[in-house]
Amino acid sequence: MSSSSEPKTIDTLLREHRHFAPPQDFVAQANTSDPTIYEQADANPETWWASWAEKLEWMKPWEQISDWSNAPYAKWFLGGKLNASVQCLDGHVAAGHGARVAYYWEGEPGDARTITYQEMLDGVCRTANALKELNIQKGDRVTLYMPMVPELAMAVLACTRIGAIFSVVFAGFSSTSLKDRIQDQEARLVICADGCWRRGKLLDLKTVVNEAIEACPSVEKVMIWQRGKGITSSAPATDRDVDWDEVVDRQSSQCAPAEQDAEDPLFILYTSGTTGKPKGILHTTGGYMTGVYATTNLVFDLKTETDVYWCTADIGWITGHSYIVFGPMANGVTQVMYEGAPNHPGPDRFWEICAKYGVTIFYTAPTAIRAFMKWGDEHPATHDLSSLRLLGTVGEPINPEAWVWYLHHIGGGRCPIVDTWWQTETGGIMITPLPGITTTVPGSATTPFPGISAKLLDEDGNEVEGANGGYLVLDRPWPHMLRGIWGDNERFEETYWSRFPGKYFPGDGAKRDEKGFLWVLGRVDDVMNVSGHRLSTMEIESALVDHEAVAEAAVIGVNHELKGQAPVGFVILRSGFEASDALADDLRKHVGTLIGGLARPEAVHFTPELPKTRSGKIMRRLLRDVAEGKTIGDTTTLADPGVLDGLRSEYEQREG
Ligand code: WTA
Repeated sequence: MSSSSEPKTIDTLLREHRHFAPPQDFVAQANTSDPTIYEQADANPETWWASWAEKLEWMKPWEQISDWSNAPYAKWFLGGKLNASVQCLDGHVAAGHGARVAYYWEGEPGDARTITYQEMLDGVCRTANALKELNIQKGDRVTLYMPMVPELAMAVLACTRIGAIFSVVFAGFSSTSLKDRIQDQEARLVICADGCWRRGKLLDLKTVVNEAIEACPSVEKVMIWQRGKGITSSAPATDRDVDWDEVVDRQSSQCAPAEQDAEDPLFILYTSGTTGKPKGILHTTGGYMTGVYATTNLVFDLKTETDVYWCTADIGWITGHSYIVFGPMANGVTQVMYEGAPNHPGPDRFWEICAKYGVTIFYTAPTAIRAFMKWGDEHPATHDLSSLRLLGTVGEPINPEAWVWYLHHIGGGRCPIVDTWWQTETGGIMITPLPGITTTVPGSATTPFPGISAKLLDEDGNEVEGANGGYLVLDRPWPHMLRGIWGDNERFEETYWSRFPGKYFPGDGAKRDEKGFLWVLGRVDDVMNVSGHRLSTMEIESALVDHEAVAEAAVIGVNHELKGQAPVGFVILRSGFEASDALADDLRKHVGTLIGGLARPEAVHFTPELPKTRSGKIMRRLLRDVAEGKTIGDTTTLADPGVLDGLRSEYEQREG
């Protein structure tokens, strides 16, 4: 895998190398290069996971490794007591690593901070003491609405310190989305920032929070961390506001960690489902910490003394929870955290940051890689990326072209790539190469992590053997699996456990190749994956119908060069409203306002009718065929096949 002086085209590379064996020098230093760990873990998964749990700091040891007798409600490390913040902080400081950098933080405008493990511990204890002063108790819910600043990680860990259940809402979500989440969990406290920098502009977050909490009587206080020092937000102060600095700075930097049961809730994180209402995915403490600790250690081959690890996700998503906060911090590695956009001020910002901090491990999303490819090879080429030794991707299937580009233009032809498949619900990485063992194939997440069992099933739940496609299921419990949906057990059982009884169904389809490697193809339900983020078609449809001009709406995800998929809306107008470009624009904006910018449809098309089955179900598959200009598929179940002709001619007219 050496880079030659004459760069080869991606097509040539794909033809020449269909398989990429890990380089010998990588294997020689890898945390594991022993392929028998798969068999060992399979032979006794409980023992395998317990061997990882033993590496954590327990206040009281567990009495039983796992209990699946009340399936699908798992319990792991029963009777054990621990505190997640101790694993992330106190242990490293006690071992003499207090001076190690926890985060190199880079603000979008170029301001930078370096925060050691000792400073993180002090900050977390102060923040935890502030939470106590605000009368937050064990089990209370705290909603966090903050940008990528170290104080977000601090607030997360401060909640865990006292046993409060935290819930991070991505700071790009609208006030309505924030309100829904606060209401669902009945949060007593909201911690937010006044604003943040994004593409050279200060975004006002406090106004969003003010709007959201108007309808949230459970919220007693809003603690505000000032990013803009008073210049960001024009939002008026409310009688619930408290200033972060004012209440945190005066606290003691000592705070005894709460003794948490292994099964005490750690956090709730909302993700989109097939209905309009997001699901509050619940994770608990002991199993989650074990899973993210083990996967971070092996998948990223962490060397805590020397690595500088950068995961470009936002803490508002599961990737940030597991692979920016808990996994890397539990391992005690040094990380980079960046506030802003990848192309601000220029398209080489990420590579400038990699060179500045000597990043060794880089974890990002395929959608970002496709954008880097589009922006041009010259941007990474002008920076010294020789410190990189391992690359990762997550969030959506990666197309082989992007994989090979990543290997050569970012990884200098020498870095192994780990394509990691997992979900908010799985808590940690489930299907992935191990970089010192697996010979990878571009586009395939390869095999389940040791101890994890995945199968492919057909429509009737029969196992699909050999090189074939099917529904992906996980048929063995694992420590970091979700424990439920907050306040909705029925939906938990119905969504994940009813399609194939006794097996966890993630909602993805996959195929197996001749080598036995898995290729996760994408969602098989009404969820789309836009730039690696999950969006529900129903949620966007409800937002469109919320507009006064709309009588009915159908939303589909169409293939998109950069985003993977993009939402497109088909809309029937109420009488009295005229189709126009301005109205289409208005509708797109309306969705952005109601849900958040990422849900804004790429296009909105007007139609007098929608293709429906005789029972009234919208046939989204046919709309997708229209939008992608394909031959229209099977229409035999349509109530009125004529509807499609009208749609297609309307579509072709508008698209030119
Ligand atoms: C998709 C993100 C293919 C998949 C960690 C899954 C992937 C959903 C991959 C979860 C991958 C994630 N290859 N598809 N490597 N990683 N997905 O909850 O459809 O935001 O169900 O978790 O993203 O998205 P979520």
